[in-house]
Amino acid sequence: MSEKEVLVRFGISMPQSLIEQYDRLIAEQGYGNRSEAIRDLTRKALLTSSGMQPEETVAGTIVMVYDHHISDLPITLMELQHEYHHAIISTMHIHLNHQQCLEILVVRGKVQKLRELQQRIQVLKGVGYAELSVTHVDEHAPSHGHHHSHPQDS
Ligand code: NI
Repeated sequence: MSEKEVLVRFGISMPQSLIEQYDRLIAEQGYGNRSEAIRDLTRKALLTSSGMQPEETVAGTIVMVYDHHISDLPITLMELQHEYHHAIISTMHIHLNHQQCLEILVVRGKVQKLRELQQRIQVLKGVGYAELSVTHVDEHAPSHGHHHSHPQDS
């Protein structure tokens, strides 16, 4: 949010018990007031990939845990990542124990494409967990549906 953005005030009705739990939760998380906590909750909700337009350009991570002893899985994952090399900016591999690997892919591209990659990883035998997390929406990407003219374009 930019500093100059106008703040809009509005009232929220909530059951007493829910607001008490909420206040305890946000106090534990270090929030000084309800407003900032609600703003963060809202931003988080807006970033869930399911609520996004498939054509939107975003950045985020795909986190996975897999068993590297499953035959061909490491090779399959490697080939899949080469296939999506335009979308994958960086990778981190952690050997969790003798059997399991944790891998983090930093990704950028259209939501649709990133979701497709996540799903193709998820269904592989030996992959126990694969989650796409969107942390940034690229509002100036051409795929956003409107055109911005920049001085250098003319
Ligand atoms: Ni490993």
